Amino acid sequence: MAAQNNAALPDGLQISGYRIVKKIASGGFSIVYLAYDEDGNAVAIKEYLPSSLALREAGELAPTISPENLPIFRIGLKCFFEEGRALARISHPNVVSVVNFFRANDTVYMVMAYESGRSLQDHILRRRDKGEKPLVSERFIRKMFSQVMNGLREVHTNKLLHLDLKPANIYLRVDGTPILLDFGAARQTLKADLPKLYPMYTPGFAPPELYSKNGNLGPWTDIYSIGASMFACMVGAPPQPADQRKINDKMDGHLQKLEGIYSADLIQVIRWSLMIDPLERPQSVFALQKALQEPVPEKPAAGKFSVTLDRLKSLFGGSGQPH
Ligand SMILES: Nc1ncnc2c1ncn2[C@@H]1O[C@H](COP(=O)(O)OP(=O)(O)O)[C@@H](O)[C@H]1O
Ligand SMILES: [Mg+2]
Repeated sequence: MAAQNNAALPDGLQISGYRIVKKIASGGFSIVYLAYDEDGNAVAIKEYLPSSLALREAGELAPTISPENLPIFRIGLKCFFEEGRALARISHPNVVSVVNFFRANDTVYMVMAYESGRSLQDHILRRRDKGEKPLVSERFIRKMFSQVMNGLREVHTNKLLHLDLKPANIYLRVDGTPILLDFGAARQTLKADLPKLYPMYTPGFAPPELYSKNGNLGPWTDIYSIGASMFACMVGAPPQPADQRKINDKMDGHLQKLEGIYSADLIQVIRWSLMIDPLERPQSVFALQKALQEPVPEKPAAGKFSVTLDRLKSLFGGSGQPH
């Protein structure tokens, strides 16, 4: 992700009925703050501020945007707003709750319920630094991802795709339940014409169809990223990027190394989700959830991979209707 070079809003600032407490995160696209509403409830406010287009010096509130960048900035702003509006319709325990939107300082702000916890990415890295083996348990992966997928099903039911699923965008509450954050759909909309705004995909977690301009996107696109995120939980690093896999696919070897640490069933489910051809993957989150919950009856034998995959597909509807 591009670095965020912009100054954050000052601590203590009152803005549209909220009081900014402090900046909690910043990326190339936005800055996230902890704030309080008028009733004293903690909220997280995400400020649209793509650093490649808008510049804000310390002490200023509104960014400076060159006339050349203004049209792109405005399209991005509209998409950010649309994304938030769509998200605001979704109410699900595993999807971040958007409670408000407002305009100020020549940009737009999305207000979310504040969640106390840390990202799955931080969780994995902490465990990796501590030398935990296995990095995370199979039980944790199965339980946590099945909850993530409950949220994702709700998103897909609302005709939205996430498009930027990865451990950094899965947030773990203190009680361990996951929430989906940071819906990249807005950025995706911008991708076709506006490469300047943002590198749209995160290498390793993005399926091949996100690399191409007219890729066929659907639930299978997020499903690839789920498989990639599960893999990242097991090895502490993202899978081989999809564009490299198309040239020299090393994923099978990487997955084989996990045998003995994780069950063959789980590894097989990940292999299925990470198929390069979108049609070869589970076509709906429901199909993937079922595969994760119900043990695959036969252990895959070495070299018999395609047979086992066919079995999986016939059991769980590999090319069923998108959900
Ligand atoms: N609702 C929230 N509650 C608490 N922290 C949040 C919330 N939303 C975002 N954050 C924090 O901000 C970080 C970045 O948020 P994200 O939406 O992923 O923005 P970015 O576009 O910068 O990646 C998250 O990893 C998390 O630490
Ligand atoms: Mg993010």
